[in-house]
Amino acid sequence: MIKRIKSIFNGFGAPRLPVQSEAFDAGQVDSGNGLTEAELNDILSAVKPFTMVHESGVRFGMQQVLQAVERNVPGVIVECGVWRGGCSLAMLLAQRKKFGRVVRPVYMLDSFQGLPPVTTRDGPLARHWQEGADPPNFFENCTASKDDLQNVLDAHGFAQSEYKIFSGWFSDTLPNVVSLLKTQAIALLRLDSDWYDSTLDCLNHLMPLVSKEAVVIVDDYYAWDGCARAVHDFLSRSDSSYRIRSLYNCYGAYFVKRPFRENFDVL
Ligand SMILES: C[S@@+](CC[C@H](N)C(=O)[O-])C[C@H]1O[C@@H](n2cnc3c(N)ncnc32)[C@H](O)[C@@H]1O
Repeated sequence: MIKRIKSIFNGFGAPRLPVQSEAFDAGQVDSGNGLTEAELNDILSAVKPFTMVHESGVRFGMQQVLQAVERNVPGVIVECGVWRGGCSLAMLLAQRKKFGRVVRPVYMLDSFQGLPPVTTRDGPLARHWQEGADPPNFFENCTASKDDLQNVLDAHGFAQSEYKIFSGWFSDTLPNVVSLLKTQAIALLRLDSDWYDSTLDCLNHLMPLVSKEAVVIVDDYYAWDGCARAVHDFLSRSDSSYRIRSLYNCYGAYFVKRPFRENFDVL
């Protein structure tokens, strides 16, 4: 839910984000993933109507999925909170463009009923937002249609084996995902579910399945207090030393599941 960060921060007088350039220059982020700029732009145009994530975040997701394949990080790709599916679609299209096929299926989880009600852990800004304080970025409380997503995937000709949609509240669908993935793992986890409970549920259920050296993207780390709090609580309770790294302009964060630093030359 990144496009609205700036208006939220400005609207409520909270600190401004560190970089305030309106024009995004793709050269400012490392998209090094072997696709040409023209190929990346084709994918970005195709997914734009279906995502609210900033272009830099979509690029990062594509880069990470391709790197996971090339580095042989075991497992499938999982996105929790897909809305209209633009980020997941980009991760599918990037694989098809680079490898000629989808090497790692993309699992997509969403309620398709919008966001659950905020709790106190999500902070006052989230409550204001859900009460309607930011109409241009409300998107009907982030409600999307599963049928529309299915139509988009069909229009691109993706086979059923290349993705799975889990429709419903995470608390109901995560146990199914976990049992389906019992013999597999997760090579890239993309969390984009805004609130404390949603984010923590995903971390609790899915982190044990995330492969060592896999990347976990947390789209809303800077956008919402509850999301940041969930990440901190999870990392602390699991006694993890994973370092949190910021994405371009604080449009999200990520960490690598690396239990300890193994060598003096690699951060
Ligand atoms: C900001 S949107 C995701 C944006 C999307 N990744 C994109 O590319 O634009 C957040 C999504 O998380 C979903 N969500 C949040 N909490 C959830 C929960 N507990 N169970 C199921 N879906 C949830 C909402 O339905 C919503 O579609």
